[in-house]
Amino acid sequence: MLENSEKSEKEYQKARKLIPGGVNSPVRAIKPYPFYVATAKGSKLYDIDGNEFIDCCLAHGPVILGHNHPIIKQSIVDQLNRGWIYGTPTELEVRIAEKIANSCKSLEMMRFVSTGTEATMSALRLARGYTGKNSFIKIEGGYHGAHDAVLVKAGSGVSTYSKANSAGIPSDFTKYTLQAPFNNIEAMAELIEKNKEDLAALIMEPVMGNAGPIPPEGNYLHEIRKLTEENEVLLIFDEVITGFRLAMGGASEYFGVNPDLATLGKVAGGGLPIGIFGGKKEIMEMVSPSGPVYQAGTFSGNPCSLAAGISTLELLGKENVHEKLNAKGEKLRTALSEIVEDKKPGYSVSGIGSMFKVFFGKKPRNYRDALTCDLKEYPNFFHRMLKFGVFLPPSQLETNFISSAHSEEDIEKVLEAYRECL
Ligand SMILES: Cc1ncc(COP(=O)(O)O)c(C=O)c1O
Repeated sequence: MLENSEKSEKEYQKARKLIPGGVNSPVRAIKPYPFYVATAKGSKLYDIDGNEFIDCCLAHGPVILGHNHPIIKQSIVDQLNRGWIYGTPTELEVRIAEKIANSCKSLEMMRFVSTGTEATMSALRLARGYTGKNSFIKIEGGYHGAHDAVLVKAGSGVSTYSKANSAGIPSDFTKYTLQAPFNNIEAMAELIEKNKEDLAALIMEPVMGNAGPIPPEGNYLHEIRKLTEENEVLLIFDEVITGFRLAMGGASEYFGVNPDLATLGKVAGGGLPIGIFGGKKEIMEMVSPSGPVYQAGTFSGNPCSLAAGISTLELLGKENVHEKLNAKGEKLRTALSEIVEDKKPGYSVSGIGSMFKVFFGKKPRNYRDALTCDLKEYPNFFHRMLKFGVFLPPSQLETNFISSAHSEEDIEKVLEAYRECL
């Protein structure tokens, strides 16, 4: 644990009595207790005990331009001065929708919600409503938020009907959730063939982000597109992480594959709560009130989130951020690979764009491979890095990120920390 963490420990002891596990999302449950943040700026977090960390967790993805960005902040402040919720439409909705439709070819129409969870839940309902079919496929180990139908883990065999991954989910709610491994087109083809009568959609992260970053191999995504088209299964790309992170048009643009529907979140709200689902006009017209698939939300299209989202997208577009950021990521991964080869030859480096991870085992092609890494050793390493002043996501199975605010010096420090802590 950090030498200087008394105040955080005290807060945690109070929190534990009031909030389950002391945290508001399980990924924040650092043992024995998390550090409590006081402020953030650029690439850094500062905790209430006065510790400073280079942040490679970046709130699990949204912070692509660095914390507390002055232009994004000003757009939120300007909006706050005009009020922060109206319950009526605003011009902001039209402005951001136009920007997104311009960047993301697949999103001809879209709806704004408040979280990625809501976005995937609504996209799946829409896919079922549009096709009149019940089942859908997800990738083993793929995460699409915390709603019932997608909270399932891999079973035995190449593919399987899935068991809930959480208490409180009736098996009836997950009986339509099928799973196939990532980067395995044969297994996917087999599963689709067996189930196509009642198959509405395939939902997938085009780059797995919640098993650590695992990029798609070769032509995998193109083959997935072909397979789903041939079998009339809707393809949903969950781009909650990759949207506006890999490129303005997300993984879709990066790999040149257009899904029928896509979900966005994280970066699109500039760090404020947001979720978006969208896709082909013909499908989106099925959403209420223009169609019969119900979807609604008091906070949907919140003006502050949209204002922050608009200024984020403008900055990303103007400054050619992705090219520079992805090059920085590539350089970091190359340097990390050399360190890993030297210090821990059995380990590997994975990632793409500004996403990276050192896996404590061989480079995974899918979730099951990722599970064979030394998951027990990872938390010890995490704490060594924290003491060194680098904050990584606390789990081996979560992606590390860098932002455009990470300087050469930050990257050098991160590399030095890896060198020491591995
Ligand atoms: C790929 C993906 N989809 C959906 C979600 C859910 O988003 P939210 O946490 O905003 O509900 C996440 C969250 O990490 C995610 O990574």
